[in-house]
Amino acid sequence: MSESNGAARQGFGLPRPGGPSSRAAVKDKPGTGAGEPPADRLADDDTIDLSAERISAAVDVVLDSLDAELVGLAPVKTRVREIADLLLVDRVRERFGLAAERPNLHMCFTGNPGTGKTTVALRMAGLLHRLGYIRRDRVVSVTRDDLVGQYVGHTAPKTKEVLKRAMGGVLFIDEAYYLYRAENERDYGGESIEILLQYMENNRDDLVVILAGYADRMDDFFASNPGMSSRIAHHLDFPDYALEELEAIGTLMLEQQRYRMSPGAVSVFRDYLELRMTQPRFANARSVRNALERARLRHASRLARGAGRVGKDDLMRLEPADFESSRVFG
Ligand SMILES: Nc1ncnc2c1ncn2[C@@H]1O[C@H](COP(=O)(O)OP(=O)(O)OP(=O)(O)O)[C@@H](O)[C@H]1O
Ligand SMILES: [Mg+2]
Repeated sequence: MSESNGAARQGFGLPRPGGPSSRAAVKDKPGTGAGEPPADRLADDDTIDLSAERISAAVDVVLDSLDAELVGLAPVKTRVREIADLLLVDRVRERFGLAAERPNLHMCFTGNPGTGKTTVALRMAGLLHRLGYIRRDRVVSVTRDDLVGQYVGHTAPKTKEVLKRAMGGVLFIDEAYYLYRAENERDYGGESIEILLQYMENNRDDLVVILAGYADRMDDFFASNPGMSSRIAHHLDFPDYALEELEAIGTLMLEQQRYRMSPGAVSVFRDYLELRMTQPRFANARSVRNALERARLRHASRLARGAGRVGKDDLMRLEPADFESSRVFG
């Protein structure tokens, strides 16, 4: 199990938006319970500047960084924007006294390895937090082993402990289908699922569950667990990246690490990706990251073992040789 705090990780120093109209904020304050109008309640004939609301919630900081730091993923980004719009309008409606039921925001991310599911899940917490939907910009990431016990009586306390930690933020369950083993009816996974379902229904104003995994297995999982399927409001599919996208991801990763490729290296890297995509265990953006890490190793050896002086440019520039000795070409 791991926890990550988005605000700290992304270095956002902005104050918590929302003000008194934010549901989560209201919730934290004693004495302003349900039923009382928010302090900044608007009159029926008031109007409100939605773009100013967007700015005050700093939603675009998160959406723009999603755009800038993640290549491609257009359908995912569109859906994330739609969710942000809904929550923003919801907040404003509330100030006019038009409170509706809180939208269900449990989600399922499907896609092949390295398509960005975990990365987007971590960002989602930041966004939902800014929009006042969750109290904490925090993701608790778990897999089956964190939820399911090995002996009678172990599963319920384990699952509840995880839920307690995740409350107020996002619970991310990776490879969620391992929770359920159809072939073993004495498996404790089912017990864990029952508890999750209860919490997803009863605590949905204080917890967002994101399930992730490969599409076909997830389909099987939902077919065997219709209760889970019906509690998921948003299914987001993460497509495999095209060659051009993988190249762009590589360039972006290098920029972030203050490296770049010589023109010759750009072309060899493209050949590398084209081959790598057809080989076993290809993992989209993760394979790009791994390839670049190995290229950095070779670059370092090349410089460290070479004779002579090096400058800043040498320290930043990857050359064809840093890719060519890869096994992928072998
Ligand atoms: N669209 C993208 N643009 C830039 N970098 C990306 C993109 N998608 C993924 N990455 C990077 O690729 C790596 C793998 O992504 P991530 O861990 O989110 O994939 P995943 O879908 O969760 O994979 P898995 O199914 O194996 O868990 C991360 O380092 C992430 O930063
Ligand atoms: Mg992942």
